[in-house]
Amino acid sequence: MNIDLSEQDRQVISEGLSGCLANLYALYLKTQNFHWNLTGTEFYSLHLLFNKQYDEMAASVDEIAERIRALGYYVDASFSAFKKLSSVKDEDKVLNMRDMILSLIDGHEIVIRNLRRLSEIAEKARDYATVELLGQKIVDHEKMAWMLRSQL
Ligand SMILES: [Fe+2]
Repeated sequence: MNIDLSEQDRQVISEGLSGCLANLYALYLKTQNFHWNLTGTEFYSLHLLFNKQYDEMAASVDEIAERIRALGYYVDASFSAFKKLSSVKDEDKVLNMRDMILSLIDGHEIVIRNLRRLSEIAEKARDYATVELLGQKIVDHEKMAWMLRSQL
């Protein structure tokens, strides 16, 4: 493979993308969990908003995973790998509406910080394709976080 990126850089970036993938999957699952278990006065609009956001994240995980493949590495897509790599914590209790929103905002902010750090690494390595992909993901998650914050 010769795409003018060193093996070392491709490996570091792939590992970083694996971390992003795990965080995204954890946040995807949490958003779907809240879509299902939500109750309260704003039920219907938030039920739809959560649905829209997890649909967006489902498309996102595919793009991140396929970028790992394009860099020459395999994707470890297992619950055990995601659990090990994710810093977005599982939610095993049923939260009230406000706490659900706060928990999702926190998750998006973890993802955004994670994407931004990796984008700096990819930029130093001149991996412009990854930089562009991550930049688009930062736009998406900042928008999703804004939509959630505006419900408070
Ligand atoms: Fe549904």
